[in-house]
Amino acid sequence: MNEVLFASSGSTDYETPPELFQKYDAIYHFSLDVCANRANTKCRRFYSPKQDGLTQPWSGACWMNPPYGRDVEAWIKKAYESAKAGATVVALLPARTDTAWFHEFVYNKAMVEFLRGRVRFILGDKSGPATFPSMIVIWTPRWSERS
Ligand SMILES: C[S@@+](CC[C@H](N)C(=O)[O-])C[C@H]1O[C@@H](n2cnc3c(N)ncnc32)[C@H](O)[C@@H]1O
Repeated sequence: MNEVLFASSGSTDYETPPELFQKYDAIYHFSLDVCANRANTKCRRFYSPKQDGLTQPWSGACWMNPPYGRDVEAWIKKAYESAKAGATVVALLPARTDTAWFHEFVYNKAMVEFLRGRVRFILGDKSGPATFPSMIVIWTPRWSERS
């Protein structure tokens, strides 16, 4: 979505491009989308805002493209803690390496792949490049044991 569309929609429903999801699904075989709705979920099993994924247990191989607003840190903390408890969580996140959450829960605590170019998010029948760089963060039980 372009900046104007992003600002005017105020929506957090920006979808992961299918080819990006499929690249990681082929490796991790996700069984749970931790934040989604019926229309945009990437897995048969998902948590919606009504169920509130932040208060549910995460287990197995989880996919996470969370709302990037003020609560993003809560999603990232939950991913880190769920990996400590045995889950694998793969997340598509803004590459904000100067944030407290990056240093607290990502740097040296997960594998990070910085994505080349800009992700083209999908919103309804529109799509467009993000206005920020993105990264894939992979928390596994083994990595999160390092701290
Ligand atoms: C950026 S979209 C990602 C959609 C999809 N999972 C994907 O990867 O394309 C974030 C989704 O999180 C959902 N969401 C927001 N708050 C949530 C909550 N508390 N629990 C579960 N899902 C939530 C929204 O409905 C939205 O569809």
